[in-house]
Amino acid sequence: MKLDNQQLKQAIFLLQNAKRLVVLTGAGVSAESGIQTFRDAQSGMWTTFDPMKLASQEGFAENPGLVWRWYMARLKMLGNVQPNPAHLALAQLQRQKTYFTLITQNVDDLHERAGNSAVLHVHGSIVSTHCNECGKIYAVSPAEMEDEQPPLCPSCAGKIRPSVVWFGEILPEKEMRTALDAVRNCDCMLVVGTSGVVYPVAELPSMARRSGAAVIDVNPERSPISEMADCFLQGKAGEIVPRLLV
Ligand code: OAD
Repeated sequence: MKLDNQQLKQAIFLLQNAKRLVVLTGAGVSAESGIQTFRDAQSGMWTTFDPMKLASQEGFAENPGLVWRWYMARLKMLGNVQPNPAHLALAQLQRQKTYFTLITQNVDDLHERAGNSAVLHVHGSIVSTHCNECGKIYAVSPAEMEDEQPPLCPSCAGKIRPSVVWFGEILPEKEMRTALDAVRNCDCMLVVGTSGVVYPVAELPSMARRSGAAVIDVNPERSPISEMADCFLQGKAGEIVPRLLV
């Protein structure tokens, strides 16, 4: 893995001069906090767990207890991890910029805990739950987090589920609309820690590029995004993102 210093300098220049900045993050930004990514060959969650059993309506209907316990275990684990230097640097970047939009595919709350605000969680959030039938928001008690089965909705007796987007589900409309507006109007997009294979979010960097924005990608591995980016900064988010701030 080799960081190209010329590309680093160019990225710093692009970021410094960006008037309308969009940051797009994926699981890689939280990896150094100790949260597993989905597709990394050795450690990705989808290499050991079947996404269709854990992250789809069909999987929930088949085994709601399994899905509930899996997400509640991830939620509890979130209480034991902290934002890393990449999250902290992105929060600092937001404080420096007048027009700043952070779009994340992550369902954790580490960006907020680092100090970012108005984060667009386009794949939902694990820290909230709602009824799978009527959609009403539901606050889970600590005891319910330990339960074998999901609690039932007090209004309609539907099963309570995590407010994350499952495969085959539509992305949250308001967040996506705001994200698309920001992407079409940005002059620079910083992409951090995504494999760039899950649509429609994977399309956002090319969309920014078509609108004339410069794209910077931070990732230890090459991806479809690094191939089209103006700058590819090869390395870990926690090491590289703080170096982009001057
Ligand atoms: P992936 O697991 O697909 O990709 C993680 C990316 O992070 C890979 O490109 C890694 O090379 C990179 N990475 C690993 N460690 C890193 C580090 N320390 N610093 C920077 N990058 C690092 O995760 P996503 O692209 O976020 O969707 O996946 C997109 C969606 O697929 C997720 O939101 C989730 C999943 O299915 C839903 O649950 C709907």
